[in-house]
Amino acid sequence: MIRLRINSKERLIDVAPDMPLLWVLRDSLNLTGTKYGCGIGLCGACTVHLDGEAARACVVPVSQAEGKTITTIEGLSSDGNHPVQVAWKDLDVPQCGYCQPGMIMAAAALLKDNPQPTDKDIDAAMSVLCRCGTYQRVRAAIHAAAKS
Ligand code: FES
Ligand code: FES
Repeated sequence: MIRLRINSKERLIDVAPDMPLLWVLRDSLNLTGTKYGCGIGLCGACTVHLDGEAARACVVPVSQAEGKTITTIEGLSSDGNHPVQVAWKDLDVPQCGYCQPGMIMAAAALLKDNPQPTDKDIDAAMSVLCRCGTYQRVRAAIHAAAKS
């Protein structure tokens, strides 16, 4: 059995220790806000926070997440009121939306470490792929969240 702390709750699950955290979140715990894109750590759709840092859940074996604080998009705020989520809504960032949970989690981790990021900082930190090309609005929303 593996004990995880996810979104401030303890969860005990019976899975193989090498199962990717993303599979556990989506298939075992029904936390489907975290998305599956590439499965090989390249696209960022599966970004969650591990001890407050952005991590790609598709390449983290669940055993490595044991003992850490895991936050998914469902746990980022109680009612969608995290400054990043508010800015995302104000600026209508999403198009299809598929990459957006990963974008938001990456942006929240960036602002925690760097509350006033430059465009260069944002481009360096936000390596989440968006097939709809929302990059300009993502950047604007991060600046708006930084000001709020
Ligand atoms: S699904 Fe994890 S990085 Fe693409
Ligand atoms: S909003 Fe569609 S992939 Fe990013």
